[in-house]
Amino acid sequence: MDATDGPPVLKLGVQDAIAGLALSTEAHWNQTEEDWRIFLRDGVVFGIRDGARLVATAALLPYSGNNAWISMVLVSGTHRRRGLATRLVDACLETARKNGLTSWLDATPDGAAVYGPLGFTPTLQLRRLKLENSAQASAPVPSAATLGALCARDRRATGFDRTALLTAFARRSGSRIVAASGCIALIRDGRTARQIGPLFADHAAEALALVRAIAQSENGPLLLDAVASQAAFLEGLTTSGWTIERPFQRMRFGPATIAAEETPFAVAGPEFG
Ligand SMILES: CC(C)(COP(=O)(O)OP(=O)(O)OC[C@H]1O[C@@H](n2cnc3c(N)ncnc32)[C@H](O)[C@@H]1OP(=O)(O)O)[C@@H](O)C(=O)NCCC(=O)NCCS
Repeated sequence: MDATDGPPVLKLGVQDAIAGLALSTEAHWNQTEEDWRIFLRDGVVFGIRDGARLVATAALLPYSGNNAWISMVLVSGTHRRRGLATRLVDACLETARKNGLTSWLDATPDGAAVYGPLGFTPTLQLRRLKLENSAQASAPVPSAATLGALCARDRRATGFDRTALLTAFARRSGSRIVAASGCIALIRDGRTARQIGPLFADHAAEALALVRAIAQSENGPLLLDAVASQAAFLEGLTTSGWTIERPFQRMRFGPATIAAEETPFAVAGPEFG
């Protein structure tokens, strides 16, 4: 089918949050309705409907310094391999081009097959890890840290000012920001598991100690998206019960725009970078 054929690409609104959630849930992703509201409210979300049913999405979330994050590239199983993802990512790239933005994304292996031919180039690698945590929340919660401290560290490590995003996360009822020995991390609710990230530290041993303390103070399953080049951290996690679920490939479209001063141990999530 020609890329211009088929149902139109539409701009979605906050009223589409539940329909978006149905797509991410079908893909077994961890996003909540609140996550969808961030993309729909603060970004541009493109979608394709089949009749009344939303069957495909892609989101562009603007970040500081002429950057944007592309994510939520989802096509229902009933509508794949018809070029829908390609059309939606093209719509995101066109928006980015018009606004002079460099686009970033964290691709699943299926997604990387779509983005490579569009001109994205690989940067760093991530690993999604899961802990089927059966702790009885016996340990005390690690010390609370401030949102300001998290935003400042996030800016140093990512090169983006994500105060608005991190503030939105921190305001959710289940969220907490914790710190110990020069490490700082955010924990927030997900659909099926709580997510740890971003997590910043000076050394792998301290990052591992903070993750252990968090796990001991939490009841249910936990997810974390580790930067693969933090090899000692990754190895420490896998030898303490965390299992690797899938890789993500970070990719960039457009000129390099950021100069990060440190490498995170865990990112906020592939949908946010
Ligand atoms: C990845 C995904 C969005 C692709 O959607 P899609 O609409 O089927 O993609 P397209 O039809 O635009 O595919 C374009 C090209 O990408 C490649 N491609 C797409 N899916 C592929 C797959 N599963 N395996 C290998 N190549 C694939 C093919 O080259 C394809 O062209 P072709 O069909 O002419 O061979 C869809 O499979 C999906 O929702 N997967 C689950 C969620 C996910 O992983 N999203 C990506 C997040 S980064």
